[in-house]
Amino acid sequence: MQDQLHILVVDNDAFYRQTIKQVLRTNYPAAIIQEAMTCAQATQTMALQQFDCVLLNYHLPDASGMSCLVDIRKAGSSTPIIILAGQGDEKIAAETIRAGATDYLPKKDLTPQLLAHCLRGALRYHQAQEQIRQTQEALQLRDRAIAAASNGIVIADPHQLDCPIIYANPAFSAITGYPPEEVIGRNCRFLQGEDTDSQYVQQVRDCLQQESACQIILRNYKKDGTPFWNELSLSPVRDADGTLTHFIGVQTDITERRNAEEALQVNTARQQGLLRDMFSSVTEGKFVLCASEADLPEPYTPFAEPVSLSRTSGVRELRRHTLGACIAAGIPDERRYDLETAVGEAAMNAVVHAATGTGHVFLHGRGAVQVRVEDEGKGIAVEDLPNATLKRGYTTAGSMGYGFKMILQLIDKVFLLTGVAGTAVVLEQERTPKAPAWF
Ligand SMILES: Cc1cc2nc3c(=O)[nH]c(=O)nc-3n(C[C@H](O)[C@H](O)[C@H](O)COP(=O)(O)O)c2cc1C
Repeated sequence: MQDQLHILVVDNDAFYRQTIKQVLRTNYPAAIIQEAMTCAQATQTMALQQFDCVLLNYHLPDASGMSCLVDIRKAGSSTPIIILAGQGDEKIAAETIRAGATDYLPKKDLTPQLLAHCLRGALRYHQAQEQIRQTQEALQLRDRAIAAASNGIVIADPHQLDCPIIYANPAFSAITGYPPEEVIGRNCRFLQGEDTDSQYVQQVRDCLQQESACQIILRNYKKDGTPFWNELSLSPVRDADGTLTHFIGVQTDITERRNAEEALQVNTARQQGLLRDMFSSVTEGKFVLCASEADLPEPYTPFAEPVSLSRTSGVRELRRHTLGACIAAGIPDERRYDLETAVGEAAMNAVVHAATGTGHVFLHGRGAVQVRVEDEGKGIAVEDLPNATLKRGYTTAGSMGYGFKMILQLIDKVFLLTGVAGTAVVLEQERTPKAPAWF
């Protein structure tokens, strides 16, 4: 790197320029050395090119070395500048250093070793200054980003008693209503209140104790007592050795989102309840729309291993198992054929809408067969359920499609559980048809 040094020598005395160049070449044979004779030439050259160091004579024909130095610094250059003076004067040396010179060297003392030493020192000093400047810039940028963030951000010091907050950004104050001076020095638990779930606070405690990162939703309270849902992300901060230095907490007020989700859940449950009653009544109890896994019927005794429907032969194999189970249960031919057809429809629905699924056939000693077909597709939306299940020929991506109406006509009892995690259909057929629910 030293070999590629780019140096500017500013001196109107050709003999000195030559001497300095020779001295430089002794230690830096590959250095690129440029020359300027006046301050004006020096500033022009520096405006066009970058140098690693400038050797500036204190006396120039158009300006003093001092005013030239001031001009260069005013122009924004931070290049190391070594002032070369004829005799050397302590007072001038101090003044030039104050004005931004990196070093000061009397020409009378000039030796290759001294110049090389000065140059090395100037370059090292410049490098360190650059690093500090870059670090400061990065820190300022980070400070601005944290201050401008729309999420609350707090930093807590785990090495102080009770892990107090040492920094809170403006968004934290905007969310909680507490100004920084009311939170610095306090543990963040002051945001909790009577409806804060102690189970989740315990999770926060565990996370901090294990020095791990976590995300937890907590009921918190603003300064004026208004409750809000706080999605809290906690992260440990470690130094270069991996030792914990701080915790950072990021707060997001998700109250609106949470309220909207809750309202949607209530609405969906209500709609499903109405639909369940409607389905049960129009199908005379044949069709049960399940709200959860618990509403699905208990499985009978497995008749065969579960069949994967992703294989092309899967649907055929499931029908074959169904046929075997019907024969074992003594189900008459016509009803057996109905179940087989319905199983084929349900299995095809799984394949078409979810690309895969599982079918499982069960047998009951009293002469009944149960077939469960499951898939992990995206399910049927509540608003699509009436059409998807009761209307002949209706089909959308994610609906039960054309065959479900037919399934309902052929089978004694049909259970359907559907949601974003997938769909399960359970078909039950007995030896003799069940009497309608009203009978
Ligand atoms: C950086 C940081 C930020 C935190 N932010 C919150 C917060 O916004 N809301 C909250 O209820 N608890 C917050 N906590 C958790 C509490 O300060 C405290 O650790 C928690 O209540 C469990 O400890 P405790 O049992 O001593 O109260 C934060 C903790 C840390 C370290």
